[in-house]
Amino acid sequence: MSEKTSRRDFIGMSFVGVTAVGAIFSLGAMKKSWDPLPSVLAGGFTTFDIDKVVKVAGTPVTVVWRGKPIFVLLKTSKMPKTNRDLVIGAKRYTLVIGICTHLGCIPAWEPKREIWKCACHGGEYNSSGKNIFGPPPRPLDLVPFSRKGTVLVLGETGPEYKKMLKVKL
Ligand code: FES
Repeated sequence: MSEKTSRRDFIGMSFVGVTAVGAIFSLGAMKKSWDPLPSVLAGGFTTFDIDKVVKVAGTPVTVVWRGKPIFVLLKTSKMPKTNRDLVIGAKRYTLVIGICTHLGCIPAWEPKREIWKCACHGGEYNSSGKNIFGPPPRPLDLVPFSRKGTVLVLGETGPEYKKMLKVKL
């Protein structure tokens, strides 16, 4: 083998080596760009202890799940019971997505009437989230959740949520 040939081989091998390393780095970079960002992964779920977040019966609390308002209402004993209530011990909750099913406004709670009223076109929902007046075509939508004790994970589909989906208000 001449000196010229072995030099060419060396340059050729070096080129292959550099190319391979470059390809590995590129693949790594591509994979990073395909993977969801950590903030997106974490953004899929909202975890909270319902007992700590909702203390006063009859006054709904709003938590946020994937940028959406979620109404959590601890029902008073006077409020109508439904099979769509989340029951934990002796407590009954309404747990719904706080977006009007007509055109997507956010209804506000009216404490005197114990209803959510949508300011956009006057739609009304009772304390169970059932549409009772105006243009909304259906009750407030349920939010997927799972539960362990009093800790809820919004974004997971637990057995209670699956049961509630079958209930017609
Ligand atoms: S958007 Fe709520 S009643 Fe129209």
